[in-house]
Amino acid sequence: MPNIVVVGTQWGDEGKGKVVDVITPHVNVVVRFQGGNNAGHTVVVGRERFILHTIPSGILHANCRCVIGCGVVVDPASLIEEMESLVQRGVTLDGNLFISKNAHLIMPYHPVLDRASEAMLGARRIGTTGKGVGPAYVDKAARVGIRMADLLDERLFREKLETNLAQKNRLLREIYGAQTFRVDEILNPYLRYAGWLAPYITDTPLLLSRWIESGYHVLFEGAQATMLDIDHGTYPYITSSSTTAGGAATGTGVPPTRIHGVLGVAKAYTTRVGGGPFPTEMHGAVGEHIRARGNEYGSTTGRPRRCGWFDAVVLRYAVRINGLDTVALTKLDVLDQSETIKICTGYRYRGDILTDFPEEESALAEVEPAYEEVSGWMSPTTGAKSEADLPAKARQYLDRLEELIGVPFCLISTGAQRAETILCERSPLLAWFPSVRTSLL
Ligand code: IMP
Repeated sequence: MPNIVVVGTQWGDEGKGKVVDVITPHVNVVVRFQGGNNAGHTVVVGRERFILHTIPSGILHANCRCVIGCGVVVDPASLIEEMESLVQRGVTLDGNLFISKNAHLIMPYHPVLDRASEAMLGARRIGTTGKGVGPAYVDKAARVGIRMADLLDERLFREKLETNLAQKNRLLREIYGAQTFRVDEILNPYLRYAGWLAPYITDTPLLLSRWIESGYHVLFEGAQATMLDIDHGTYPYITSSSTTAGGAATGTGVPPTRIHGVLGVAKAYTTRVGGGPFPTEMHGAVGEHIRARGNEYGSTTGRPRRCGWFDAVVLRYAVRINGLDTVALTKLDVLDQSETIKICTGYRYRGDILTDFPEEESALAEVEPAYEEVSGWMSPTTGAKSEADLPAKARQYLDRLEELIGVPFCLISTGAQRAETILCERSPLLAWFPSVRTSLL
């Protein structure tokens, strides 16, 4: 029965791929509901490291069906490259991968528009991944987007492409002074992609509905994170999709009444790539230390991530906006060598302490974090099999975070491997999937 959403609670890169990978053996279906190949989910299986951009990480499990939902924007060239690399490494896609007919395509002009727009924004640039995700969602909202189903209808695809190019080329040439495109240079490769992708393109809301009726468990895999949500994130420094739990319904066609719980993923500290407010950002040697220990470089762009302390204001906001039942805390081991650790409990703002996340850009630019300092445990946590195995000060750190955010932890991750995961006894995850206990032993 349980159909569960997994979302990021901070600014992305919390380790959702690993958490989804741990839960996947207990579900039948994993579905992505938003974003595109701006995402990079890293999953380590034995000695192999897989970085997935568009395909749900459930694909690494033989019996799991994976769906790319209608809320996702798909760059077909990048998707096919990902599919080929999985097939080469022995992963079976046929019968396991399903792509929504209504998912929108990222077209070759979208990344060009993405980068040109960023260049024009100057100091107010967003720091996008440059993959064309924002411009593809612009076209979707403007009702000129091209969908997966259109790719299968050559006449319609050509007609939409011609209409769009007439407009895009003027925009590219006259506003941005950027490269323009000919119809045939897009049409020919895209028709080839159509041949490749056709067997996977289907009515996924119908499939999901039938599967749910027949008792399948579904995991909704979010990309990016709460603070990058188009409505609830730090606008305009956000991505262009609904990254929060509500997006799981609209981005898949599964009604909210068929979703039973929401699990948030948070790092034991915070990172952010790209521009925008980041109240607990660490500058100097402390930030460098965390970046090096946590290998905090973007899996899609390789950019160094900005690093900061754990922000309980952000987490409480994520709990509220997503209705989180529980949180999986990742990368605890990265703090193993930190003598002192700070926890942000509120924001100082014009003589007040804010404990609720302020939504205005101007307020966010002014807030100063109010910190509590705890002494670090200065010993390894990797390999701990239970919370009781953790150093006492690490347990105290976890207890304090839980108290501040108001929901229980379900998993504590202390390394990249599946086995480097502690299951928390009080967690709702065990009520949803009792067999998680045996698979993590
Ligand atoms: P876009 O999604 O490429 O338009 O980028 C918009 C913002 O979201 C930028 O700050 C990106 O760095 C950020 N972003 C997009 N995808 C990810 C991700 O998977 N992890 C972390 N940040 C992301």
